[in-house]
Amino acid sequence: MLTRRGFLTGATVVAGGGALAACTSREGGVQSVAQASTSAVLAQQVVPFDGARQAGVSTPHQANLNLVAFTLRPGVDRTAIKRLMRLWTEDARQLTRGRTPLGSLEPEMATRPANLTITCGFGSRFFDISGIPERRPRWLHPIPAFTRDKLDERWGEADLVLQVCSDDPVTLSHATRHMIRSGVNYVSTRWFQSGFLNANGVLDDGETPRNLFGQKDGTVNPRSEEDLSGSVWIDEGPASIRDGTCMVVRRIAMDLDDWEILDRGSREVSVGRTLGSGAPLTGGGEFDEADYGAVDDRGLPVIDPASHMARAKPPEGHPEQVILRRVYNYDLEPDPTSELLSNSGLVFICFQKDPDQQFTPIQRRLDEMDRLNQWITHIGSAVFLVPPGTDPEDPLRDDYWGAGLLEG
Ligand code: HEM
Repeated sequence: MLTRRGFLTGATVVAGGGALAACTSREGGVQSVAQASTSAVLAQQVVPFDGARQAGVSTPHQANLNLVAFTLRPGVDRTAIKRLMRLWTEDARQLTRGRTPLGSLEPEMATRPANLTITCGFGSRFFDISGIPERRPRWLHPIPAFTRDKLDERWGEADLVLQVCSDDPVTLSHATRHMIRSGVNYVSTRWFQSGFLNANGVLDDGETPRNLFGQKDGTVNPRSEEDLSGSVWIDEGPASIRDGTCMVVRRIAMDLDDWEILDRGSREVSVGRTLGSGAPLTGGGEFDEADYGAVDDRGLPVIDPASHMARAKPPEGHPEQVILRRVYNYDLEPDPTSELLSNSGLVFICFQKDPDQQFTPIQRRLDEMDRLNQWITHIGSAVFLVPPGTDPEDPLRDDYWGAGLLEG
């Protein structure tokens, strides 16, 4: 796999003299791009599909998201679910490698994966319909209701989810369409949430993308293998879920019209960071530690204890309250019946071992008090188990999504 850094380095080399750039995938889909253009390098980037853990969780964000939730059709039983999982896993494996999946008549639509990942998750009812309720993780239930929630059932719990991400919107669209079509005998689409971030190549290497409030969003996130093992990947319980994770999806509307009335200083106070560099208001760079003890010349805390980051950070004695945020912006046509000029927000996706210990206590604090609350409203919520990764070559791993849960 070429990393984002590799891509940018490759781009420099190509721009500097038309050198040979090579893009490799672990699966052997090696592509050599002689005299390549930058776009050709990006087009051929492959994120390995098979492995202990599913791709699309700790994978650096791609620019575009389709998050599709499904309802299992009446009459679909465990045998049928196994067929669907085998089908979907193989289709996703082929698509993410830039190959044409079986049954597709559009080979040219699959040839530019551009970091395509397809990640699958199971909702609570999946376990009942599969006849394995005893295998459902105890945390796989709806997130408790919060006082400020305005949840719309339209964006609610579902039986299955596919998170499809790519740096190319056409590839994304084709891959999503293929997956929906190939599952049509087993599932119907429950909801479809699209999102976007800054395009690949627009940001500097490692630069944090911005949300539609103009904030760098994703600065404090577990990134190292150690941190991800500590907070994201399940390492307890049966092997069938170990190396899996829990995906919480919240759809959060952002009131841009009201936000824009605020002066810049107040916008920064509400989160606790500067808008320009994303650094904490106590100084330094974006990734420097915030100093929550610092006070100004009037003796007031520089970072407001009611700011979003002060409320969201893990409190003393609770280092487990860390989540991996992988959020995308949405921006739709304004509702013609409302006065609002926009209909925008976040497809807030986060990953963790156990939402009862991680997402929920954080959100409980935010719901009680968070300066950002004035401009944001949670309008959708769903929870999924993302089962471990697959590898048909490895007898110790599942050869299709959820095999460890569904077999035996
Ligand atoms: C529209 C809604 C939201 C917006 C605009 C937003 C924006 C931000 C921004 C700008 C930051 C600071 C930069 C960063 O570290 O990424 C941040 C940090 C954070 N946010 Fe949010 N956020 C939203 C919702 C949420 C929700 C629902 C949660 C979880 C329940 C959450 C959890 C966090 C955490 C854990 C941090 C890092 C805190 C730390 O410094 O330790 N955010 N968010």
